[in-house]
Amino acid sequence: MIILGIETSCDETGVALVRDGEHLLGSSLITQIELHSPYGGVVPELAARQHAETIDIVFRDALEKADVREEQIDAVAVTYGPGLPGALLVGVAFAKSYAYKTGKPLIGVNHLEAHLEAVRLQFSKTLEYPALGMIVSGGHTSLLDIEKPGEYTLIGKTRDDAAGEAYDKVAKLLGLGYPGGPIIDKLAGEGNHKRFKFKKPRFSDDSADFSFSGIKTAVMRLVKETPEAEIDEEFKRDLAASFQYTVVRILRDAMRDAFKLERHKSLIITGGVAVNSALRKALDELGRELNTPVFIPEPKYCTDNGIMVAVLGSRLMKEGKTADLSLDAKPDLKIGETISRTSNRYKK
Ligand code: KG4
Ligand code: ZN
Repeated sequence: MIILGIETSCDETGVALVRDGEHLLGSSLITQIELHSPYGGVVPELAARQHAETIDIVFRDALEKADVREEQIDAVAVTYGPGLPGALLVGVAFAKSYAYKTGKPLIGVNHLEAHLEAVRLQFSKTLEYPALGMIVSGGHTSLLDIEKPGEYTLIGKTRDDAAGEAYDKVAKLLGLGYPGGPIIDKLAGEGNHKRFKFKKPRFSDDSADFSFSGIKTAVMRLVKETPEAEIDEEFKRDLAASFQYTVVRILRDAMRDAFKLERHKSLIITGGVAVNSALRKALDELGRELNTPVFIPEPKYCTDNGIMVAVLGSRLMKEGKTADLSLDAKPDLKIGETISRTSNRYKK
C-alpha cells in the first residue's frame, strides 16, 4: 500500500510517498525559511501563497524521487490542522482535488499526531508503549501520555509561547536571524550558561503546563538594560547559553516529573526543537537516569515534513479512518483528551 503524504501547515511544503507505513520511497521538501527570514518569523499570507506556488513542484519531485507512478498511489493523506489557516488550506485543497480526480481515498492527518508518528518510521521495531511523549516545535509544546498510537492524554501544554517560538523571538531580539533555534543552539555551545540566571516558571496549581514568555521577557529586559557597547559577541554567546540552559531544564524536568516508572516503557521527543543538541543530550541522560529508552528522530524527521504525514496516513488507512471531500482545514485541531489542570493525573 503506497500512501502520499502532504504537509503545508506552516512554512514547509512537504510531500512524501511511504509504502506499508514504514518504507520511505521518496520525499521532497521546500522550506520557506529565506522568505520569512527578513521578518524574524512566519508571515501567514506569504506562507500560504508560497505553498500554492510550490506544492505541485514538490509533489512531482517526490514522485520522481520515489520512482512511483501516480496510478500506484493507494490513498492521499494531508495535514488538516493544527496550523496556519491559509497554509493548511493549500494542502487540503490539493489533496481533495487529487482524491476527487483519481477517486482515491482521502485521509485527514493531525499535525501533532504526525510528529509523534515520525518516531515510528525510525524506531518501529524497538519502540514500546505506553510511552511518555513530548512535542516541542515552533507552534507547540505538549506533553502526552501515549497508551498506544492513536490514544493520547494531554498532560501539559504551553500557556503562552511554544519553546521554538521563544527561541525565534530571542534570536530576533539579538538580531541573530531566523529561525532562531539552530542559531542559538550553535552559539550556546560556545557560551557560559552561568553568566545570566533565568527563573523556571512555577504554577500555583501544580500543573504540568509550560510557559516560556517569562524567560523571553527577562531576556528582553536584560537586553534593554544593557548598554549597547556591552552587547558584544561574548554577551550574545553567554545569553544564548543561559537561555538554552533554562529552556532545556524546563523541558527535561517536565518529562522527569510526568514519568511513571510502572507505566512508561519509552520516552519520545519530537518536533523542531528536538533537533536541539543540548536537549537531545539532556534527554538521553534522563533516559539513563530513569532506565528507560529514549527515542528522538534524526533531525530531518523532527522538523515538519511530508513523511510523517504519510506514515500516520498509512496507519489511519489501515484502521479505515478515511475522510470525505467535506474535509476542511482545522487551524485549532487538538490532540488527546485534556485532563483536569488541578488533578494532573492520568490513567495508570
Ligand atoms: O516542527 P517545526 O519544523 O515546525 C512547527 O511545527 O513549528 O519546528 C520549527 C521550530 C522553530 O521554532 C525553530 O527555531 C526550532 O523548531 N528549531 C530549533 C532547532 N532547530 C529548529 N530549536 C532549538 N534548537 C534547534 N537546533
Ligand atoms: Zn510541526
